Amino acid sequence: MRVGVLTGGGDCPGLNAVIRSVVRKGVQEYAWEFVGIVDGWGGAVKDVTRPLDVRAVRGILPLGGTILGSSRTNPLRLEKGIERVKNTLAAHGIEALVVIGGEDTLGVAHTLSETGIDLVGVPKTIDNDVGGTDYTFGFDTAVGIATEAIDRLHTTAESHKRTLVVEVMGRHSGWIALHAGVAGGANAILIPEVEFDLDRVCAWVERRFEINYAPIVVVAEGAVPKAGQMVLKDESRDEFGHVRLSGIGDWLAREIEGRTKKEARTTVLGHVQRGGTPSAYDRWLATRFGLHAVEAVKDGDFGTMVALRGTDIVRIPLADARTNKRVPAELYAEFDVFFGT
Ligand code: F6P
Repeated sequence: MRVGVLTGGGDCPGLNAVIRSVVRKGVQEYAWEFVGIVDGWGGAVKDVTRPLDVRAVRGILPLGGTILGSSRTNPLRLEKGIERVKNTLAAHGIEALVVIGGEDTLGVAHTLSETGIDLVGVPKTIDNDVGGTDYTFGFDTAVGIATEAIDRLHTTAESHKRTLVVEVMGRHSGWIALHAGVAGGANAILIPEVEFDLDRVCAWVERRFEINYAPIVVVAEGAVPKAGQMVLKDESRDEFGHVRLSGIGDWLAREIEGRTKKEARTTVLGHVQRGGTPSAYDRWLATRFGLHAVEAVKDGDFGTMVALRGTDIVRIPLADARTNKRVPAELYAEFDVFFGT
């Protein structure tokens, strides 16, 4: 059997661990051959592939990024996009695909599977917002990086008695902000799911100064103030129609400084959160996802996605992967006690 593998959307630590796991199991247990599709759906549309055998995956387990490359190409928006994907698969004798991606890439996979392409999905994203799975790999690494940054910012904030705002990734969901903010002992955590009240945030900041500590405010890039507009650096959009975010951190620091009359600065962590070597947990989860994806292909259980439920890996319909998993209001409220103190 010949199986194609692709990684799509924003990269994240652990993608190579999945690729390695899929190839090792497929080759060693079932004697399958693999074709690496380059740059996600981009390579599938343009017929760009690379060899993918056990040799090609040696040494990539701790490597960040993806050896296959990634893109945000959306074949459903291209003329004859689906036909072109099918032509590429036919040209290489590919009978099944393992698609490693987030909500958008898996959304395309779902549509393509309904047109008759045999595929299995593997959820990834640092944002942890793919529906149907408790966690995605990449998230643990990103939270670790953001937490370490917050730890470091505490000491410099104290030295200068200033507010430090830390902007983390999270377009629609505040999972990174919440986990890293709690782990790093932030004094305010602002997430896209709950509009924030600027007066309240400034009160938390003042309170923190009153007890002689410098405040750390963690804000997800998609967080929005009450009755306000989302703050954007530019209005450009990617192929899935998402605006390019970033800007809320700077805006917040300016507002806090203006209102509290105490210096405030911003650190935007950006792509640092997505780069570098995956944590041990992400390698573990990514490896397990890869092994189970191969079993799903072997069983002909197409149109499904592997997912984590508790400590088990299960298979769910790809349709369920498309829902955006958000931070529940009750979970966010659990940490109220730490805000402003
Ligand atoms: O989708 C994952 C993510 O990390 C988002 O949190 C962020 O908005 C986006 O990627 C930015 O990706 P890029 O700069 O690659 O378009």
